[in-house]
Amino acid sequence: MTAHAEPAVLVAHANAVAWITLNRPQAMNAINDDLRAQLPAALRAADADPAVRVIVISGAGERAFCAGADIKGFAEAPSPAQFRQKRLQGHWTEAFDDAKKPVIASIHGYCLGGGLEMALACDLRVAGEGVEMGLPEVGLGIIPGAGGTVRLPRAIGMSRAKDLILTGRRVGAAEAHAMGLVSRVAPAGALREAALEVAGLVARNAPVSIRQAKRAVDGGLHLDLDQALAHENAMYQDCLKTRDRVEALRAFAEKRKPIFTGE
Ligand code: CAA
Repeated sequence: MTAHAEPAVLVAHANAVAWITLNRPQAMNAINDDLRAQLPAALRAADADPAVRVIVISGAGERAFCAGADIKGFAEAPSPAQFRQKRLQGHWTEAFDDAKKPVIASIHGYCLGGGLEMALACDLRVAGEGVEMGLPEVGLGIIPGAGGTVRLPRAIGMSRAKDLILTGRRVGAAEAHAMGLVSRVAPAGALREAALEVAGLVARNAPVSIRQAKRAVDGGLHLDLDQALAHENAMYQDCLKTRDRVEALRAFAEKRKPIFTGE
């Protein structure tokens, strides 16, 4: 980043939510080196912040959540040595995989290529009515290379994923919702409120439960049934030790809302 450049990522905090905004609206929030460096740093900082319970990712400007990798920098393919060196530095999506807290993508406008791969690396996706989502990489002489071929079939099933990956076609909000690519569609102008509502519904729960539930789902997905059930049980056992579990039972008996501290 040059001295005078705008930050590629903005972070705001409200209640227990860290709201991260991709901030390259002039380039439809396309992923360049600045964003590749600043986004994981912002995500890791929010994940480590004890005041934060949920993280939301959104895009600045009217037109796009994120139009994918910055293809203006694509003309020169990296040499194998450069590619290996970049990979050694770690891929930007690793920060999503490492996040212990739930991450919600608040998606408006274009959500293409690496932008959709970013959304797929999130736990939940909320879309505005006008979204256009897709993986156009095969039309650019490459394939989705930031987890798209891996995460999309896990999210929506093999045949629907191959439909999107092999055709490169875009889907709108209704189809994205019908295929399970997004879990909620917000009417025009109400996306932020919808994303905050989902964030609030998550954040009101016991923090250790949220973390362990996410680990149980993510960790169990690739195990066989017995191993997955054992993994779930281990995650469950950790919740039994918490004060918040006792607080929930006490609050129920006292007919009041629980006050969770994350202990
Ligand atoms: N990278 C860099 N700049 C981009 C961009 C991208 N991915 N997408 C849009 N922009 C820029 C445009 O160059 C343009 O900038 P200028 O005004 O300076 O020319 C500005 O954003 C507005 O874009 P358009 O004028 O093209 O707007 P449009 O309404 O005609 O089209 C669009 C919008 C359909 C999103 C079109 O811009 C487009 O197709 N963009 C490319 C999308 C794409 O192919 N993404 C996948 C990239 S590959 C990838 O993501 C793979 C990976 O990670 C491994």
